[in-house]
Amino acid sequence: MENTEIKKRIFSGVQPSGNLTIGNYLGSIKNWKAFEDEYEALYCVVDMHAITVRQDPATLRRRTYETLALYIASGLSPEKNTLFVQSHVPCHAELAWILNCYTMFGELSRMTQFKDKSKKYASNINAGLFTYPALMAADILLYQTDLVPVGIDQMQHIELTRDVANRFNGIYSDTFKIPEGFIPKAGAKIMSLAEPDKKMSKSDANVNASVYILDGRDDIIRKFKRAVTDSDTVVCRAEGKDGINNLMTIYTAFTGKTDAEIENEFSGKGYGDFKLAVGETVADALAPVHAEFDRLMADKAYLETVMKNGADYASYLANKTLSKVYRKVGFVQKPR
Ligand code: TRP
Repeated sequence: MENTEIKKRIFSGVQPSGNLTIGNYLGSIKNWKAFEDEYEALYCVVDMHAITVRQDPATLRRRTYETLALYIASGLSPEKNTLFVQSHVPCHAELAWILNCYTMFGELSRMTQFKDKSKKYASNINAGLFTYPALMAADILLYQTDLVPVGIDQMQHIELTRDVANRFNGIYSDTFKIPEGFIPKAGAKIMSLAEPDKKMSKSDANVNASVYILDGRDDIIRKFKRAVTDSDTVVCRAEGKDGINNLMTIYTAFTGKTDAEIENEFSGKGYGDFKLAVGETVADALAPVHAEFDRLMADKAYLETVMKNGADYASYLANKTLSKVYRKVGFVQKPR
């Protein structure tokens, strides 16, 4: 399935965490599905990025399978997209080393994710955490990527990737395509159910704040029932009604109903009815995803076939870029 047409190429990386929220589901996975036909897309489970913070090996291994299964269960077709695991394609580590030598200490020091994580993991501020963006740049640049769909928090890393690519191209002539970051707008902002002025996060300490794709039906409904709202009683979108606005956004995302339709549907009813309806709708929508996830997790052989095919194709593309880079920096080709 070589990209012989002029389809633009998309690359994105996902951390191997089984705990994706409905915000991730609506904001990334669902949008990615929409790219399927128009672009050539590669999605990489970034296990090498994951070890910049301490991981339990068995958990990391399980989550790598789970992440792959979750993306497929959510509708990303492995036939139309290249799904693979970062550590299966050694070019990522190899190019990352080279890019490390073209990325400045000062640039890396300014990365807000590094500063945040250094605070959060103060006893393990390792060099990998610091040079994380060089590995991310390698991920993207290996595939001559046009577009990188990411959350707003990753934009600074994309900017750095562009700077490093331009620097390298400036020294050695055109080698890398300069990628664009892209923030999909639909569903990008699902807020916490506990503090609706904060974004829903997969790492929120409050278990009632976030609804996970893999939460069971009862948990989903319970979390929506407990969602923080306001002291008003009318279901409508308005300034200051962050909680209700967020529930309306979620309801729209899962049903396609407009604000006016929702306001109509719940006129004369209370918040309780609305919360229950949103909870049941989300639970219903996720039921087939759960069933497919369970089926895939019970079929490791299939997941491994997907991983292998994905890694084979990714390696083929990545090697083309890497050998160009090796030649340009002056490495001697290994004699045959
Ligand atoms: N850093 C990204 C995150 O934490 C994950 C990631 C790694 C990524 N490599 C990437 C995203 C390449 C886009 C492109 O979400």
